[in-house]
Amino acid sequence: MSSKTPYKVLCVCLGNICRSPTAEVVLKHFCDQQQLNIEVDSAGTSNYHPGKAPDLRSQAHAKKRGYNLSTLRARQLKVDDFVEFDLILAMDLENLENIKQLQQTACDVFGQSRLKAKVMLMSEHDEFFYKQEVPDPYYGGDAGFERVLDQCESSSRAWVNVFKVMNI
Ligand code: 4NP
Repeated sequence: MSSKTPYKVLCVCLGNICRSPTAEVVLKHFCDQQQLNIEVDSAGTSNYHPGKAPDLRSQAHAKKRGYNLSTLRARQLKVDDFVEFDLILAMDLENLENIKQLQQTACDVFGQSRLKAKVMLMSEHDEFFYKQEVPDPYYGGDAGFERVLDQCESSSRAWVNVFKVMNI
C-alpha cells in the first residue's frame, strides 16, 4: 500500500440509490484491480433518500455481475465535498449543473483556494459512451439497470486509463 494520500473520487447522481452507488462500487473495483491509490465514494444532489441502502433492483443487477452494493448508504452532496475530494463525477447533465451550483456556494463559503475538486461527467473519457449521460433507471425496467452497469463499467475502464497516465 502506498504511503501517499489517496486520490479521492466522488460519484454523484440525483438520489444516490441507483446510479452513483453502482458507479462507486464499479469504479472502486477497477481501481483496486490496477492497485491504484484511489478512494471512491458517492452522494446525491437531492436529499430524497438519506441513510437508505441502494435500490433493491440496483443491488440485484449489480450482484449478477459480482458487485456488492448492500453496505452502502445514501447521503446528500455537501459543500465540504469540494474541499475533500479531488474529482466529482456527475452521472447526467442535470447532476452536473446542480453540482456546479453547489461548487459556487462552496467557493463562497471556503474561498476558491481551498477548493480541490474538479467536476466532470462520468463519461468524460469514455470512447464508447463519449460525454453521454447515464440514464436514470428509477422509473424504468431491467434494461435501464443493465445499461447503468454497462456504462459504469465502460466509463470506469476509461477513468482507470486516465488515472494511470496521471500517475495516481
Ligand atoms: P438515482 O435514481 O439518481 O440514480 O439514485 C433515482 C432515485 C430516486 C429518485 C430519482 C432517481 N426519486 O425520485 O426518488
